This record gives sequence, C-alpha cells and structure tokens, in this order.
Amino acid sequence: MRWLGAVQSLFFAGQIAHCMVLNGTQIVHELGSILSNGSSIYLPADADWDTETTQRFDTWHAPTYVVSVKPALTTDVQKVVRYATLHNISFLATGGGHGYSGSLGALQNGLELDLGYFNSVTVDAANNLMTVGGAVRFSDVEEPCYAVGKAFPVGACPCVGLAGASLGGGIGFYSGLYGAISDSLVSAEVITGTGALVTASESENSDLLWAIKGAGSSYGVATSLTYRVYDYLNDGYAMNADMLFSASQMSSLFTFAKSWLEKQRKELSITFSLIYVATLQEVIHASVPYALNLYEIGVEDLTAAVQYFNDTVASTAALQGVFLAFTQYAQYGFQQHPQNSSSFPYRDVAIQIDGSAASDDDVPIIDSFEREFRDRLVNISGKDELEVYMQFSHGDEGADAWFSAANVPKLRELKRRYDPLDLFRFYNSVDVD
Ligand SMILES: *[C@@H]1O[C@H](CO)[C@@H](O)[C@H](O)[C@H]1NC(C)=O
Ligand SMILES: *[C@@H]1O[C@H](CO)[C@@H](O)[C@H](O)[C@H]1NC(C)=O
Ligand SMILES: *[C@@H]1O[C@H](CO)[C@@H](O)[C@H](O)[C@H]1NC(C)=O
Ligand SMILES: *[C@@H]1O[C@H](CO)[C@@H](O)[C@H](O)[C@H]1NC(C)=O
Ligand SMILES: *[C@@H]1O[C@H](CO)[C@@H](O)[C@H](O)[C@H]1NC(C)=O
Ligand SMILES: *[C@@H]1O[C@H](CO)[C@@H](O)[C@H](O)[C@H]1NC(C)=O
Repeated sequence: MRWLGAVQSLFFAGQIAHCMVLNGTQIVHELGSILSNGSSIYLPADADWDTETTQRFDTWHAPTYVVSVKPALTTDVQKVVRYATLHNISFLATGGGHGYSGSLGALQNGLELDLGYFNSVTVDAANNLMTVGGAVRFSDVEEPCYAVGKAFPVGACPCVGLAGASLGGGIGFYSGLYGAISDSLVSAEVITGTGALVTASESENSDLLWAIKGAGSSYGVATSLTYRVYDYLNDGYAMNADMLFSASQMSSLFTFAKSWLEKQRKELSITFSLIYVATLQEVIHASVPYALNLYEIGVEDLTAAVQYFNDTVASTAALQGVFLAFTQYAQYGFQQHPQNSSSFPYRDVAIQIDGSAASDDDVPIIDSFEREFRDRLVNISGKDELEVYMQFSHGDEGADAWFSAANVPKLRELKRRYDPLDLFRFYNSVDVD
C-alpha cells in the first residue's frame, strides 16, 4: 500500500519521471533489491537472454525490451507494476509470446514482465476445474487433463500461451463443442493497472471477468486462471484428416461449405488453406497477419476473391510467402453462452478468415496487399464494417472491430476503473477515452 500511495501522489503532482531510454542496468539494480529471491532479471547482453526470456516468435513489428523481469511471486508482479508506474516505464506482460498483432510494435525499448515462473497446472477432476499459471501453454495442459479423463478446448498450436489466448477470446478446433476458450474461464487473479491484486469471478468483480473474457490484455496481468474442464469424448481421441484439392475445385468447396452452415456437427471443424509456394523459403523471421469474419458464404464472390488473390500473388514476388485460411466452426459451442456473457463478441461467424505473409523483412507491399484484400473481403462479408477476431488481427483495425462497437463503451468505462493510467496499452487495446 505504501507503494501505491507513493505512485498516486507522484502521478497527481505530474512528476512521473519521463524516461526517453531506459537504463537496464539501473533497473536490474533497483528491482533486484525489492523482488523476492526467486525472481530473475536479464539484460539483452546476458548470455542466457535467449534461453531464459520469452521473445516473440515473429519479428514483424515486434516489441523490444531493454530488460526482462521474471517475478517469482504475485507480490513481485505487483512490485514491478508499481515500479514501472512510478518511473513511467512502458512494459508488457508475456506468457507464450505468441501474440503477433502489429500493435505490439508500439512498445520499443521497454520492460518485459515475463511470467515464465507462473507455470503450474493443477487439474481438480472431481470439480471439473483446472488452475494454471499465466505462462502455461496449450501443450502443458493436454496431458494432465487426459490423465484424469478430462478434455480442455486448446487451440491448434501447442506452443501458444493459454492465458494470452483466452484473454483475447480464444478460438480453436474445439470451439464447435465448447465455444470460445474464454467461455470456460471461471475466475482469474489479476494485478490491475493500480497495482491491486483482485479476483475476477462471477461473485467478485464480475464486470472485470466479463471484460477479460475477450479484451483481457487491456486490464492487467493474469497470474493464475481457473477454467472448467470437461469429460473427454471418444476416449480422448480426436481425428485429423488432411486432404488436397486442385484449384479447379475451389467453387465446389465453397458450395460445400455453404451447405454446412447451420447444420455442421459440433464435433467437426473445417479449415481450407491456400498456400502459395513459388520457391521454398529458408528462414522466415517476419510473419504479417491479417484476418476478418465472414457472416455469409457467397460462392461466386469468394471464388472471384481467391482468383484475384492468386493472380496478384503469382505476379508479385514479394507476396510469394502468403497464406490464407478459411475456418468453419459449428456455432453450437459459441451459442451455448449468451452474447452479453463476455466481451468476446463474435458468436455467429460463418467463416473465420485468417492469413499471414512470411518475409525476411518488413515489406510495405505485403502490408498494403493484405489491407486491400481485406477491404475486398469486407465487401462480401455480410457486414458493413470490418469485424475481426482480435488475436489474428493485423493490428490497425481498432477496438470496434476487435470487441464490437456495442461492447466498447462498457469496456472503456471498465478500463478507466481498472487501468486508469493506461499501462496495458500495447496489445490491441481498449482506449481509456
Ligand atoms: C511517460 O512516457 C511517455 C513515453 O513513453 C511520455 O509520452 C509521457 O509524456 C511520459 N509521462 C510523463 C508524466 O512523464
Ligand atoms: C545506468 O545506471 C548505472 C547504475 O545506476 C550507471 O552506472 C550507468 O552510468 C547508467 N548508464 C547510463 C547510460 O546512464
Ligand atoms: C533473500 O535471501 C536472503 C539469504 O537467504 C535472505 O536473508 C533475504 O531475506 C531474502 N530476501 C527476500 C526478499 O526474500
Ligand atoms: C494461379 O496463378 C497461377 C500463375 O498465374 C496459374 O497458373 C493458376 O492457374 C492460377 N490458379 C487459379 C485457380 O486461378
Ligand atoms: C444479458 O442479457 C440478458 C437478456 O437481456 C439479461 O437478462 C442478463 O441480465 C444480461 N446479463 C449480463 C451479465 O449483462
Ligand atoms: C467495396 O465496395 C464498394 C461499394 O460497392 C466499392 O466502392 C469498393 O471499391 C469496394 N472495395 C474493394 C476493395 O473492392
């Protein structure tokens, strides 16, 4: 409390230090003297920086840090948040480090609050609950759930952080059954923008629970999260089938997809992917994402759009690492939860489109092609405005597109309450005003 008092009085006196470039050495010294012994602090020059800290997998508009702090205890996380506030230090909390929105590039030479030590997984089979630390990845929960006959709706990529994915909604191949991953979130321990540690659940701070199930990265650092788990189906086995189709079958595939709308089995998820491989690229460092929601399937319009995509990519060398996927989930799982049960807004999507383009560098032509192609698709999406699953977004879409215009006023009001200084502003965030 002493810390918080100091922070607030300094803030209101307008005297927060304005640091142009952070001094990592000084931060190591100062934070090192107040954090618990189990905590670690790294500088980029340290030999173990690459192995001990979590850097984002994608170099496109990547956040950069002058120091990485790995707190051991929840109270250490509070100390880091308060220290950063007192010294006006920009920071980002990281779990799996998988967020690839371009918005993250706004954080340069900041402080990484690496949650790597918050890595425990506990499954309470009798009560159908699982509690995980803020840095647990999808691959960490599969085995503990399976071992006790339970299933949990993980996403497709094993290395993605569970907390980060679900705080942004969370969709994956089990969404047809269970909805967004956040629909399974029961409660979370959150250190908010005031440095307070609060529980968000149905009975405590239920408005914060509503907000973090979709827009969570704007509100605080989640150190511990409790989810519902489910009895597994089919002895815990899932089937995956990959098929290849020739380009001439494209419109019949879209006709098939359209015929499944409304009657797709909840156990089945379908993804059509188009990958343009002109030459095999060796090491890819940058991956530029883009995405949007489709609410209807216009077979001719979609076929024409893909034709345009193919022709443009074929004639433009810089675009030839591009990828485009159309994923169709049964709506059953999403619709088990009322629209207003969380800030995750998009429960009635026909097809989720997401794609990315790989390049060795930041290539402006990729950025402009993706945005133009996205505009083209918005015109045939069944909505007047762009709506997008924020985790797959490019980063330029804005809060209305990520969280829905209907949710933004309430999200802003909660932002003013839980993060009045807008500390949590670096990942597809809700503005304070
Ligand atoms: C805090 O730092 C930001 C840049 O990161 C700067 O724009 C802002 O003016 C600073 N605030 C204060 C109160 O110095
Ligand atoms: C950074 O801080 C350390 C320790 O306080 C100090 O010795 C060093 O001179 C500072 N470096 C810069 C560039 O200010
Ligand atoms: C760190 O460890 C030392 C020696 O073991 C102990 O004296 C000290 O109280 C510990 N500090 C904290 C903050 O836990
Ligand atoms: C895609 O472009 C390539 C190169 O121009 C062309 O050979 C191929 O037929 C095109 N595919 C479709 C489905 O238009
Ligand atoms: C959601 O909407 C329903 C129907 O309008 C209402 O009864 C319920 O109280 C709302 N729930 C929340 C959490 O706002
Ligand atoms: C989208 O539709 C509008 C209105 O029909 C049209 O003016 C615009 O050119 C279209 N944009 C794209 C990228 O096709």
